[in-house]
Amino acid sequence: MPSSSSAASAAVRTHRQGALLVATISNPPVNALSADVRRGLLQAVEAAEADPEVRALVLAGEGRGFIAGADIREFGKPALPPSLPEVCNRIEASGKPVIAALHGPALGGGLEVAMAAHFRIALADAKLGLPEVQLGLMPGSGGTQRAPRLMGLKPALDLMLSGRHMGAQEALEAGLVDRIAEGSQAEAAGVAYAQYLLASRAAIRRAGDSPLAADIEAARATLKEIAADTAKKSRGLFSPLKIVEAVEAGLDLPFAEALWNERRLFLQCIDSPQRAGLIHAFFAEREVVKAPETRAAKPRQVASVGVIGGGTMGAGIAVAVLDAGLSVTMVERDEPSLARGRANVEKVYDGLVQKGRMTAEARAAVLARFGGSTGYAALSGTDLVIEAVFEDIEVKKAVFAELDRVCKPGAVLATNTSYLDIDAIAASISRPQDVIGLHFFSPANIMKLLEIVVPSKVSADVVATAFELAKKLKKVPVRAGVCDGFIGNRILAKYRQAADYLVEDGASPYDVDEAVRAFGYPMGPFQVSDLAGGDIGWATRKRKAATRDPRARYVQIADRICERGWFGQKTGRGWYLYPQGARAGTPDPEVLAIIDAERQRAGVKPRKFSAEEIVRRYMAAMINEGANVVREGIALRPLDVDVTFLYGYGFPRFRGGPMKYADSIGLDRVLADIREFAQEDPLFWQPSPLLVELVTQGRNFDSLNHPAD
Ligand code: NAI
Repeated sequence: MPSSSSAASAAVRTHRQGALLVATISNPPVNALSADVRRGLLQAVEAAEADPEVRALVLAGEGRGFIAGADIREFGKPALPPSLPEVCNRIEASGKPVIAALHGPALGGGLEVAMAAHFRIALADAKLGLPEVQLGLMPGSGGTQRAPRLMGLKPALDLMLSGRHMGAQEALEAGLVDRIAEGSQAEAAGVAYAQYLLASRAAIRRAGDSPLAADIEAARATLKEIAADTAKKSRGLFSPLKIVEAVEAGLDLPFAEALWNERRLFLQCIDSPQRAGLIHAFFAEREVVKAPETRAAKPRQVASVGVIGGGTMGAGIAVAVLDAGLSVTMVERDEPSLARGRANVEKVYDGLVQKGRMTAEARAAVLARFGGSTGYAALSGTDLVIEAVFEDIEVKKAVFAELDRVCKPGAVLATNTSYLDIDAIAASISRPQDVIGLHFFSPANIMKLLEIVVPSKVSADVVATAFELAKKLKKVPVRAGVCDGFIGNRILAKYRQAADYLVEDGASPYDVDEAVRAFGYPMGPFQVSDLAGGDIGWATRKRKAATRDPRARYVQIADRICERGWFGQKTGRGWYLYPQGARAGTPDPEVLAIIDAERQRAGVKPRKFSAEEIVRRYMAAMINEGANVVREGIALRPLDVDVTFLYGYGFPRFRGGPMKYADSIGLDRVLADIREFAQEDPLFWQPSPLLVELVTQGRNFDSLNHPAD
């Protein structure tokens, strides 16, 4: 074995403690499974076996946890020996007992190492999981075979298919660990447990020695159900079904062959383009929090939050803030509106109590932090205020004038506006340095995205405070500049227009939705419009009518539908029909007739569009405006656009976001599409100068994500 003869690993230290060899894994910050760690683990097993005085081996992690997983930065590079499967198999094959002592994260490959050991003890803070699926992968070092043998088929598949983490107590009950230890010293716990095992002459237990399931036929039936459910839920994802396939093969194959088969499937996942998209999403999500202001300034203290307006957004924002443990004061314009706002907040918690996800006591405790008022004086001591009143600049300016009057110096004054000019709002009061945009998405207590919109006069510590608040609220923050619609809604406006053009030119809204769903979205744009309410977009179109470029093409179909009062689900019909409050719509022949009439009125001769062309146009519009948003500095980098769309607009995560998708198909191809479409409508399809520049230079969007490289 070439690996064992090479130099001693610096990442795994061993020392003798009586009859035990203790191996300490030390690869800060999280003990990722680098080649050096893998080599060290292998050497530890060999050293334990070679020394006649050693009777057992204890594996423990130093620092924050056991092993947080594979070193994903090694992906795509030539793998250095030994491989993790080799290490795990060697641990399991050891003739002397191997005890894994777990604390903190034992995730992915880290848990696979632990499962290959013969015994596992965990501290109360241990977090166990097989999250590979979230990166488009699957456990590839025996996890798909050992997990079901240790914990049973269903719990193991739940762990692998969800990628969720499990606490020590749950892991004990599931059979994934054998014991929970008191205290905070994993190594000491492992040593004590190993001594106990030796004293009680416990026999070595190898997961691989037992069959995957006692009743093979019952297991096969269970797997069939899980496979069907997975195919439905994971829409288009590659690796979840591979996980089920790997487990299923373990029912029939001898253990060693099942491991080999698992590796084969793992390599297929590695080669899948989805893996690249998911890994991009993973890193992008970690990059967005690094805005220049968060490095330059310290956040202000925020313990109390004011919310102005208790409508859809105000109530959702209040819940998000309450859920983070802060106190909320809601201000509404009159008592009936305040009562409605309060009811909107209470409804969320009542729903949780009804579903058994919250106790009545917990509900009462949360609501004790919630207060309301119809006067602004109630906000005099508040650290941060979020305004969510009607989308009307005069109404908003009046609210900010009140805030300017009553709020304490240094209070952060935020607006949740979707489109309005925050610089103008800031300029209308005496403290523009405190004004910022916090653009939540509906439902605000659920949607992860928070656009942090940075006006020109705001001070850096206010921006840093906004990022800190996002962290407390468990949101994914994206820094955006001021413009009409910021990052997300500005780009949305363009591809929605492209969708409207498609419909007027010959596709049905149902064709468009279907093509967009097949691309990986949970819903198409016309379904989304029916869900959100057609009246919202209609109001925006009317507001913008005066400033619309008279030369620009304007499709009136949506207006014709709204004029009939067909606003979508809430009115029983919109683009689709919703008989008797049904949530899934059915195509509406009357809508198709309206579309036909509008085509005739506009003098358009309809033509056919394939699903492929629909997606090409939809994506080209999105990518092109994404490039403009980056070029103008509205988004810091292409990855900020990606994260916005992944977390706010349902963009399929496995494609990594629109800019990553553009890179994956080639920017030259996107530009060629735009130039082709521009022959019909040069005003709408103007190639972004940034896109042209990148294509000329042979670069991609990702080259702008890492300017220092
Ligand atoms: P909404 O109409 O549901 O609620 C607005 C609330 O503000 C009402 O309860 C109203 O009584 C209250 N209000 C109006 N004037 C007030 C004043 N002067 N003082 C105190 N309260 C006042 O509207 P929604 O949907 O909650 O939108 C609020 C803001 O959030 C708008 O700026 C909107 O553009 C933005 N937004 C909306 C999203 C959505 O999906 N609905 C998404 C993101 C942002």
